Amino acid sequence: MSIQQTLAMIKPDATARNITGKIIARIEEEGFRIVAMRKLKLSKEMAEAFYAVHKERPFYGDLTAFMSSGPIVALCLEREDAIAKWREVMGATNPEKAAEGTIRKLFALDMEKNSVHGSDAPETAAVEKAFFFNGIDFL
Ligand code: CMP
Repeated sequence: MSIQQTLAMIKPDATARNITGKIIARIEEEGFRIVAMRKLKLSKEMAEAFYAVHKERPFYGDLTAFMSSGPIVALCLEREDAIAKWREVMGATNPEKAAEGTIRKLFALDMEKNSVHGSDAPETAAVEKAFFFNGIDFL
C-alpha cells in the first residue's frame, strides 16, 4: 500500500468539549502527517452539501443541524494506507460497537455526536479534501 491522503473532521461535540488537542495528538501518534488544517463553522447549507450522499437517510436533517451547530476542524491527513488506517483509529460509527481504544470508543457521545469523521474511499477523499482545501493549503 502506498502513501495516501484522507479527509478527517473533528466534529462539534468534540470541539465543544475542548478535546480537539487530544484528538490531534492521537492523529500524530498514529503516524499521520497533517497536510492541511482549518477550524471553521459550517453553515447548514455547507453541512447539507458535505453530507449530500446521505440526503435520503432519516438522520440527514439531524446530522446536518448538528454539524452546523458549532465549530469543526477539517484536516487532510497523510500516511501509508491513510483511509483505512484513519477509519481503524476512529472506530465504528456507533460508539457502542467501537473497539476499545478507538477515538469513538473513548470520546463519542452517540451515533450522531461521534466526534470524528473520515473519508471512506479514495474518490470520496478527493471530493472531501476539495470541499475544504485548495492547492495553496497543502503543505
Ligand atoms: P460520519 O462518519 O461523519 O458519516 C455520516 C454520519 O451520520 C455519521 O458519521 C454519524 O455522525 C451520522 N449518523 C447518525 N445516524 C447514523 C446512522 N444510523 N448510520 C450512519 N450514520 C449515522
